[in-house]
Amino acid sequence: MGKEKVYVFDTTLRDGEQVPGCQLNTKEKVEIALDLESLGVDIIEAGFPISSPGDFNSVNEISKVVKKSIICALSRAVISDIDMANLALKNAKRKRIHTGIGASDIHIKNKFNSTREKILEQAIAAVKYSSKFFNDIEFYAEDAGRADEDFLCKMVEEVIKAGATVINIPDTTGYNLPEIFAKKIKYLMDNVPNIDKAILSVHCHNDLGLATANTIAGLQNGARQFEATINGIGERAGNTSLEEVVMALRAHPDLNLDTGIKSKKITPISKKVSRMMNMPIQRNKAIVGANAFAHSSGIHQDGFLKHRENYEIINPEDVGLKASSIDLTARSGRAALKHRLQLLGFSFSKVELETIYIKFIEMADEKKLLHDEDLYKLMKKYS
Ligand code: KIV
Ligand code: ZN
Repeated sequence: MGKEKVYVFDTTLRDGEQVPGCQLNTKEKVEIALDLESLGVDIIEAGFPISSPGDFNSVNEISKVVKKSIICALSRAVISDIDMANLALKNAKRKRIHTGIGASDIHIKNKFNSTREKILEQAIAAVKYSSKFFNDIEFYAEDAGRADEDFLCKMVEEVIKAGATVINIPDTTGYNLPEIFAKKIKYLMDNVPNIDKAILSVHCHNDLGLATANTIAGLQNGARQFEATINGIGERAGNTSLEEVVMALRAHPDLNLDTGIKSKKITPISKKVSRMMNMPIQRNKAIVGANAFAHSSGIHQDGFLKHRENYEIINPEDVGLKASSIDLTARSGRAALKHRLQLLGFSFSKVELETIYIKFIEMADEKKLLHDEDLYKLMKKYS
């Protein structure tokens, strides 16, 4: 049986780019949008056109060049925002509006000073107005992660009736635990009568380090779109990391979900986004961190050299890396040292390796991480 399609909605250029210091100019945004398209992203959220002339221009320019991915623009549930999004997307081959409003009582009272009834009316009106210009309408129920479940069901039902084709359930504050978020998505799937008329999307933030886990929980319970950014960049602790969800689904074929992402392109785009946005990637970041495929302790190195799968669940080539690496430190064992020296063309007996190893440990205690130049020096000293 074929796998079920999961739509990938990338918001690197909108939620990611909101982060102070990560701003890009139009040329850079167009370059990343084209890379996202060749990565196989289904929907690219290109910006929030009413927020600034620069953002408007970026959405407009991206719309002119991207042909396969759907280009999406953000708007509040406000007519002027929707008009501006429509204008910015006028050249898009495939376009989507992403409009919405707060759904939690916290937002309704403290952000809008309003009532559930008035917010619901505004949501319906925004979707109806959007349907004058768009067939593809995504509605976001902001802070759905903390919203009353029955009110959320009502809101989702009404906006689908008004014409929304995709419903985004954001955990805006990254508050949920996977089990709670799973139940929330299941509750919507089971209690919104017209839910089959729309695709449910999950948009998680990483305030508790749970964005990927919550996203997977949502997908396991009926969501068929997830929203994410490259390297997990985004507001505060960031958004769900696109590469983590893609590879988690790949590593667990039993989930029967497929994103269609060309995973070999993950490493190059990750590096480019990091460089252009001045946002270094933490070394131990899953999938794209410098240490994600580096083995450092003697026990792990020995096990890895005997059989890769002893210590790796993903083949580094699948994410566009040439190979895993073996860090030579004072924690490394003889197997790793022997392997690297042989790669450099040295040959030696078992007894000789013992002597070389003692010298290696002395050097590694002093230098911490040894590179090939150090090994050449070591072998010069020894020979
Ligand atoms: O986190 C959030 O709720 C958002 C919405 C605008 C979709 O980014
Ligand atoms: Zn967000």
